[in-house]
Amino acid sequence: MGKQAREVVEQAGINVEELLEKLVRAAAAEFTTYYYYTILRVNSIGFEGEGIKEIIEDARLEDRNHFEALIPRIYELGGELPRDIRKFAEDSACPDAYLPDDPRDMKQLLTVLVEAERCAIRVYSELCNMTTGKDHRTYALCLAVLHEEVEHEAWFSEFLEEGPSGHFRRRTPGQSPYVSGFLTARF
Ligand SMILES: [Fe+2]
Repeated sequence: MGKQAREVVEQAGINVEELLEKLVRAAAAEFTTYYYYTILRVNSIGFEGEGIKEIIEDARLEDRNHFEALIPRIYELGGELPRDIRKFAEDSACPDAYLPDDPRDMKQLLTVLVEAERCAIRVYSELCNMTTGKDHRTYALCLAVLHEEVEHEAWFSEFLEEGPSGHFRRRTPGQSPYVSGFLTARF
């Protein structure tokens, strides 16, 4: 862990144990969402499904990136991942993004997707509010993730015809335009 890195955050008035708990729960939500989005993407077929397959893949890969980007900060601050993946999944900050009872109902499937993104937006907004002006590194990371979660929500929301977002597609699947700078081991 980074001793001084943790100390400055504590001195700024942040309860680091509470912050670590939130970061681990956020990482669990990314990890489980990556898993569930795999199932949702696989089931996005037919006239309606094929149209959303690509953005599900973008969101899926970017959630995996979010997980990857959070891990170093957790350990840097003296935290760790639970030894047992079952406990990790149980502690997720967001509900399981289960495949709907009728997998051919794309509206139901999109609702699962948009609700998962809305949960993520709440999680990272809370983390940003907690760290702003106090823990600059965690704040910058969580803000980068938040940018991508907001875009994900907009993509799915547009498919539900809730109105245009002004966003366009990624250049490559799972590009992570905001979080890629934090994936130092990847580039
Ligand atoms: Fe995410």
